[in-house]
Amino acid sequence: MEPVIPDLRAVPRDHAYAQLCDMQALLLEGSDDAIAGMATLSAMLHHAFGHLWTGFYRVVEPGRLLRVGPYQGSLGCQDIAFGRGVCGTAAAERRTVVVADVHAFPGHITCDPRSRSEIVVPVFDATGALMAVLDIDSAVPDAFGDADRDGLERLVAWFARTTYVPVPA
Ligand code: SME
Repeated sequence: MEPVIPDLRAVPRDHAYAQLCDMQALLLEGSDDAIAGMATLSAMLHHAFGHLWTGFYRVVEPGRLLRVGPYQGSLGCQDIAFGRGVCGTAAAERRTVVVADVHAFPGHITCDPRSRSEIVVPVFDATGALMAVLDIDSAVPDAFGDADRDGLERLVAWFARTTYVPVPA
């Protein structure tokens, strides 16, 4: 039986992410499957913190197009162009983007009107190529800070250590 995902909403974020890193190592031990990694991480983060939407947009055309991948939550939009919205900005600039108020972010793509704040973290493969972004939306304003950025960047480093997914040329 798989372990139960702990409720970490009341736990200090650095401790919470340390716990999730241990859980990730345990669950994905021996795996180099990017989709399994994305699905597992989405479920862990979504249920541990009670986010609105937690999941991945995969690079399907390098430098051009992201497509929705494994996620938890309400329906996400299918495709996002590089440079568009928070996900497209993080992909184009290859950096984590934290948005305290989505209404103040020019070009924010609204998939769920309840979304108030957001963090998007780039995901790199073992060659350093951008393979996806991890997108987390919250119904709480200003829900994400430095501990989230650090913790999530540590979690997605799993993909750079373990997976190589060639993207179509
Ligand atoms: N909020 C995102 C769009 C994706 S969904 O919310 C799932 C953005 O602006 O990039």
